[in-house]
Amino acid sequence: LRDAAGLIVADILDLFSPDFGRVPQAVMNHPAVLDAELERIFTTAWLFVGHESEIAEPGDYITRRMGRDQVIVTRDEQGEVRVLRNACSHRGTLLCKATSGNTSHFMCPYHAWTFDNTGRLRGAPEARKAYGPGFDRADHPLKQARVGVHQGLVFATWDPEAPPLAEFLGDIAWYLDMLLGTASGGWEVAGPPQRYLTSGNWKISCENFGGDGYHLPYTHRTPIEAGLFGEDDDDGSGGKPHGRVVWTPQGHTARIGYMPPEVGGPPYWGMSDGLRADFVANATPEMLQVLDNADVVHGNLFPNLSFIFTAITYTGDEPDNTSFLIFRMAMPVDAETTEMVNILLVPRDATPEWKQRSVLACVRTHGAAAVLFEGDDFDNFASVSATGRGVVAQGSTLDYSMGLGLPVEPDDWPGPGESAPHDHSERTHRAFYGAWLRAMKGEKP
Ligand code: FES
Ligand code: FE
Repeated sequence: LRDAAGLIVADILDLFSPDFGRVPQAVMNHPAVLDAELERIFTTAWLFVGHESEIAEPGDYITRRMGRDQVIVTRDEQGEVRVLRNACSHRGTLLCKATSGNTSHFMCPYHAWTFDNTGRLRGAPEARKAYGPGFDRADHPLKQARVGVHQGLVFATWDPEAPPLAEFLGDIAWYLDMLLGTASGGWEVAGPPQRYLTSGNWKISCENFGGDGYHLPYTHRTPIEAGLFGEDDDDGSGGKPHGRVVWTPQGHTARIGYMPPEVGGPPYWGMSDGLRADFVANATPEMLQVLDNADVVHGNLFPNLSFIFTAITYTGDEPDNTSFLIFRMAMPVDAETTEMVNILLVPRDATPEWKQRSVLACVRTHGAAAVLFEGDDFDNFASVSATGRGVVAQGSTLDYSMGLGLPVEPDDWPGPGESAPHDHSERTHRAFYGAWLRAMKGEKP
């Protein structure tokens, strides 16, 4: 079976030519491809597992997944963040069934082996009688992943040879610093994450978050017709948003969207007055330049951490100065089903009223109940996987050639990374699938 699956994956990889803008449709729904991804990507990349504020105090923990492997993300009694495999070292029973809590020890429900939150086995009932005098608890720890933290975002990897987190993030770290590093009081989660199942392969959402300004006027026609992006332009499709795309060799991608100049609005949209002053005081001149008049920054950290900061939100009859910032794990359940885990962050120093508006703005446009924006995307994402079930579909490739052959004129974009100054580009998609292909072939990022 393994050989058969390996052969299928090799055939699919042979069809692949991200540099030339073709991606086989089978990568969107073939179970053998997902198995290979879990083995080759999800065990080698740095994966996002949570925000530090979710485990603020010693003993705090949350349970998450890295690929299909369940983990406990916890702050131990010394304050160190640990990522422990959530499976007893005796018989593999799920150790912790809660999604969050506080404890110094985890006791297995099966035979009561008990581990502390550094992963050490501290007790096994009647161990001497059952195993003899040679039983050494030190031989039975929980498996631990390597942990790295950037701007409060906690990442983990199973690969002892993975490059340090900073190297893995590369130039995309600057954009995270722009979003998260400029609030003096830091950021915190606004409650537990929103989790929901969607149909469609995990990559479809990730590639979309990394760019794809092209779909906005069509998939999201309703908010455009409602005037959220300004008045109609000459082709009658509404005021079209425009954006800049950014990508890095690691496959990280981002898009910064700008309001049409005639729409106007305050600089640094969506920040309350106090937050704006804080941002201006802490940001570099280049960051100020990038974010002035931007209404959205979204992207995807390879492989499956998407993010969106958006300021164009209406929570009542009048536009108000609200924004929200989501970090989202697109967790593969199977090749055609993805569990979204949305973490909403708010500046710690914002007022309770502002935080509440941010939550409302978020859930109305993004998440399981989003009527205005993200709800538009779900059917499209689902059908990319679904149409790939056909027999003819198996040899088909999908088109990612936009912008190939078009020159990118050098300009004075102040941010790092490679970038292109317009939405008519699938360079971010190709960067994502280029990194995907390298990882699938076992090449280091
Ligand atoms: Fe956990 Fe036996 S499986 S103690
Ligand atoms: Fe969309």
